Amino acid sequence: DDYELGGHSDFMRKEMAEQAEAIARALAGRLDERFATAHLGGLGLDPMALRAIKRVKFLGCGSAYYAGQMGATLVEELARIPADAEPASEFRYRNPVVDPDTLYVAISQSGETLDTLAAVQELRRKGGRVIGAVNVVGSAIARECGSGVFLHAGPEVSVASTKALTNMTVSFAMLGLLLGRVRDLSAASGQRIVAGLRALPERVARIVAEDAEIERIAKRFADARHMFFLGRVRGWPVAREGAQKLKEISYVHAEAYQAAELKHGPLALIDAEMPSVVIVPDDELLTKNIGTIEQIRARGGPVIAVTNADLPDGLADEVIRVPRGEPELDPILLTIPLQLLAYHTAKALGRDIDKPRNLAKSVTVE
Ligand code: G6P
Repeated sequence: DDYELGGHSDFMRKEMAEQAEAIARALAGRLDERFATAHLGGLGLDPMALRAIKRVKFLGCGSAYYAGQMGATLVEELARIPADAEPASEFRYRNPVVDPDTLYVAISQSGETLDTLAAVQELRRKGGRVIGAVNVVGSAIARECGSGVFLHAGPEVSVASTKALTNMTVSFAMLGLLLGRVRDLSAASGQRIVAGLRALPERVARIVAEDAEIERIAKRFADARHMFFLGRVRGWPVAREGAQKLKEISYVHAEAYQAAELKHGPLALIDAEMPSVVIVPDDELLTKNIGTIEQIRARGGPVIAVTNADLPDGLADEVIRVPRGEPELDPILLTIPLQLLAYHTAKALGRDIDKPRNLAKSVTVE
């Protein structure tokens, strides 16, 4: 085990550190500067077939579902095709309407999650077009789908998914780029996204390497019994994934909410004992998110802002900064510090990082 850990204290730490090289592997041979697009040969779809797709639906469980929600945002923004995500565990039970013009994407690190496999089988029975976004080659979901995009994250041991989740969102950025470039995404915009993707490994490596600040903040709030994670649009699935990570490895109760929904109920819970992690991308919703932080602090709630924007001094109690990138790719970068926040909180509380109680890496039962 010591050898496999390569000097790291646990697999989650090791796998977070491997993210830059994992992203580079996912991008290798797939980005095309000249035509400002991506090549995803494993999809088996020519430009006419790509153009015929009218909707995209992502299906997955746990973190894979949240990656799907980030994917839906990316596809809608880049390709302007309606897209959404649904927990694969719900899909087969609700007698879904399967639409022949929809591209269904089954997401799974292990490729063995029973609920996701069952969703794929239900889709195939009803004649749906389903591709896989899978890490483990030769796994049940990869075989059942027959086509798709492999994640190339390498083996992931920690129950809490880090590099596989990151490569899911990177793959969906490439899918959005490809679907966009056979539609109305301009070559200039495509080039901007290609360059943004190329810059990701270095930016992610920087966040993981410079985590002393995040460790200090995690220790400061480690005694909290509950935490909110708040975000809007691009920041909303990021908030959901951040809350999930904190829950699963630190056992601190975390709840994710759309920032604008706060005033419709949960604001009643805000007090000095309820810290909020607010995701603040440097995008057109910046002033809205600053308003959210002010509302929370006016009611005595501590705020940790996770941002790539320049926030006014003293706005939040703590600020976790990430490097600026292309706005559409913000969810990928903003997710990384939340892994570290959960990790250092769990460490401060003495939890078993790689094997949280009651959880399994791969759930192959109903
Ligand atoms: C389990 C794990 C989660 C994971 C989910 C989906 O619940 O504890 O961390 O996100 O399964 O796993 P998959 O292998 O399908 O991505």
